[in-house]
Amino acid sequence: MAVLGLGYVGLPVVLAAVEAGLPVVGFDVNAERVAALELGHSTVDTVTDEALRRATDTRRLTFTTDPGELADATVYVICVPTPLHDKLPDLQMVRSAVGFVAHSLSPGDLVSLESTTYPGTTEGLVAEQVEQISSLVAGRDYHLVFSPERIDPGNDEFGFSNTPKIVGGVSERCTAAGAAFYRRLVERVVTVSSPKEAETAKLLENTFRHVNIALANEMAVFCRELGIDLHEAIRAAATKPFGFMPFYPGPGVGGHCIPIDPAYFSWRVRQLGLSFRFVELATEINDRMPSYVASRVVEMLNDVRKPLNGASVILIGVAYKAEVGDLRESSAFPLARRLLQSGAQVCWHDPHVAEFTVDGLQLPEVKSLDADNLSGVDLAVLHTSHSRIDLDALVCHAPLVLDTRGAIKARLRHVHGL
Ligand SMILES: NC(=O)c1ccc[n+]([C@@H]2O[C@H](COP(=O)([O-])OP(=O)(O)OC[C@H]3O[C@@H](n4cnc5c(N)ncnc54)[C@H](O)[C@@H]3O)[C@@H](O)[C@H]2O)c1
Repeated sequence: MAVLGLGYVGLPVVLAAVEAGLPVVGFDVNAERVAALELGHSTVDTVTDEALRRATDTRRLTFTTDPGELADATVYVICVPTPLHDKLPDLQMVRSAVGFVAHSLSPGDLVSLESTTYPGTTEGLVAEQVEQISSLVAGRDYHLVFSPERIDPGNDEFGFSNTPKIVGGVSERCTAAGAAFYRRLVERVVTVSSPKEAETAKLLENTFRHVNIALANEMAVFCRELGIDLHEAIRAAATKPFGFMPFYPGPGVGGHCIPIDPAYFSWRVRQLGLSFRFVELATEINDRMPSYVASRVVEMLNDVRKPLNGASVILIGVAYKAEVGDLRESSAFPLARRLLQSGAQVCWHDPHVAEFTVDGLQLPEVKSLDADNLSGVDLAVLHTSHSRIDLDALVCHAPLVLDTRGAIKARLRHVHGL
């Protein structure tokens, strides 16, 4: 089996396949990444070096940048990024990976696309490109499925093996072949009638999150004006045993999925001459949150007669979500940018992150939240509340705290919410 793309999605697939007893070739175009993996260093913070070493110790796993080493595989799993370029789907890396697969593919093989994408990609772009290169026809000569990765980095309860895997193939036999393969790796496989439903299921999941986070964010702004503690209201609403799922406000949305995936669907909808209004609105609201947080910083400083210009502001937690070091699309970037543009001196603290650079400017890191470091700042913004962040020290030593996550439960005069 071969896995193409050894990042947050691909590496867990590799480990699960090795654990299931399969010989695995992990392929990536990033030579540095492959070299690190060969030395036993995990390249994503959600896979430990120890787990990687356990897999390599089986001798069933090799890593490579050489597409020639893909030829012996009978199953190909594609886990490459699907970013936006100028707000449009960028499938450049999918095309490149499909090209490598097509040059190695043999009749009877299975190809599974796991990268998040718009409905129609598997049966369109992937099947067509494979046919052009290899003359092999999906559903007739080889099995082709879409099986979205649903991994939630930093989630200790649900990982790769106990999150059901959706599989939709271009024919019933393709779906059956895909399902049989994934049943070796995960506890439960859910089949759907074609790749389009599988592609849409993934986009629906993330659009659902995106829209509901926007609802919480918009309510946070109104609730502040109305003097209502939204977090307390959410906790109360969440006691309803049916029909409600809590979502929480925050400084914006980040990561590779929530800010990006809904745009894949709305792009497809625009081709029908229509607009996906829920997505457009949610994007507008969520994108405005970093500016809103910056305006709250200005207000809080103003209350103590300080201008933002020249003030020292520390961002606590710069990763896009708790318990990971992933900075992709983190709202800490637009927030830091706003504060810097207004003349603030911005530093940061995040136990999961090694470096935080905004527009080429490497911002100073504060290693520990002690009295010396915190008493020198004018205001601390709790941007991401990792469990390793010492909230007691933050509350004790920072003169002003803006808690964007509702993580600090104590009602204190110098601690404000969104
Ligand atoms: N990160 C998540 O939490 C998550 C969750 C579910 C789905 N997804 C989706 O999974 C896909 C991959 O995301 P990720 O977070 O693993 O990305 P990532 O950036 O962590 O890893 C992707 C890897 O693919 C490699 N790559 C790029 N082009 C390649 C090519 N042509 N051939 C082989 N390797 C190539 C890159 O070098 C990189 O190492 C995306 O479509 C994403 O939307 C991500």
